[in-house]
Amino acid sequence: MTPLFLTFEGPEGAGKSTQLRHLAARLAAAGLPHTVTREPGGTPLGTRVRGVLLDPALGIDPLPEFLLYSASRAQLVREVLRPALARGEVVLCDRYADSSLAYQGAGRGLDPGFLQAVTAAATGGLTPDLTVLLDLDPALGLRRAAWRGQPDRLEQADLAFHERVRRGFLALAAAEPGRFLVLDAARDEAELAEAIWRAVGERLNLPQEQASG
Ligand code: TMP
Repeated sequence: MTPLFLTFEGPEGAGKSTQLRHLAARLAAAGLPHTVTREPGGTPLGTRVRGVLLDPALGIDPLPEFLLYSASRAQLVREVLRPALARGEVVLCDRYADSSLAYQGAGRGLDPGFLQAVTAAATGGLTPDLTVLLDLDPALGLRRAAWRGQPDRLEQADLAFHERVRRGFLALAAAEPGRFLVLDAARDEAELAEAIWRAVGERLNLPQEQASG
């Protein structure tokens, strides 16, 4: 079994969670052991930190905001990600460190060098093998997210913030084309699922017919 660490990134309302479910179903059908998790969250600590981070009633400065995401991430790496990879599983994570670089770096204006140094310490250098970036116009994404209910603390930030986040993600992808698969999130859901499955199949060296099935 080949351990593989996959992350899903993108702005609000891009359909990450939906695509993650499609991929998990394909992995299950192919009989490949996998773990699905998310950030912030994924552990009892992370779930509590998530509640704090997304609470619209709380004012949180950019630095403590980043440190809280990093705390959740450090716990997730130790409690969930590394053990699952050590078991040889495929790990699917809904957001990871690229979100901090895009939201707290490009979005909030924190220094990228500082973010990378803290992230390296928090993760012990664990980086994804493949990152699916579902790119979307933030105006459309925020409308999609609003259908889900009351906006959380991050969704309430203004459109200019979310546009910086989107550009931040695209810059990260341009800097590491070998790691990122950038897809237009406005495309048909089934087509996107197919493109993601093909890329994952290649990384797992699945036989062609299994990867396209
Ligand atoms: P989600 O709604 O996609 O689960 O993500 C929660 C929110 O947290 C979303 O608005 C993106 C934001 N976020 C950051 O700002 N920095 C981070 O490092 C992570 C993981 C998420």
